Amino acid sequence: MKGRITKLGAIAIATTIGFATVATLVKAADPISDRRELMKANGTAMKAINEALKNGGAAADLAPHAAKLHDDAVALAPLFPAGTDQPQGKDPGQTMAKAEIWSNPDDFAAALKKFQDESAMLQTAVAGGDMGVIKAEFEKLGGVCGDCHKQFRAK
Ligand code: HEC
Repeated sequence: MKGRITKLGAIAIATTIGFATVATLVKAADPISDRRELMKANGTAMKAINEALKNGGAAADLAPHAAKLHDDAVALAPLFPAGTDQPQGKDPGQTMAKAEIWSNPDDFAAALKKFQDESAMLQTAVAGGDMGVIKAEFEKLGGVCGDCHKQFRAK
């Protein structure tokens, strides 16, 4: 009897672990959607900053957008695991990431690092409050987005 209970207990534990593992895998198994969402958020944040700069917005209003860009730059790093260059396309679940990301990992890592560094510079500029400096950093960051897309994103 005792042996049977232990065995059932072991099965229950194994099943629980099994479900937990599956749940983790399912969550982690969609890096394409996750990185595309973050990239879209990047676009939204850049647009918001651009509009504020054009319309004479206050530096303080830019802080959440600059923070979001920096958070995204950090969060993007693990979302390009090997094997996620397929299926190619623009539909949901598909990717526009080029194979060069994986054949040229050092350059891609450097491009991501630039994004992290430059978004941090933008945050510093926003905290400083000088709109001229903010605009210059914003334009530099736009260049960082564009450079990476040119090299690593399909058209
Ligand atoms: C390190 C490289 C890199 C940097 C830096 C980068 N991107 Fe991207 N971006 C990509 C790649 C690769 C894709 C394609 C992702 C995919 O489809 O899986 C992409 C996709 C996008 C998309 C399309 C999202 C969609 O699926 O609809 C937008 C919008 C975008 N990026 C905006 C930005 C903006 C704005 C910045 C700068 C603030 C930026 N990106 C910085 C590499 C980068």
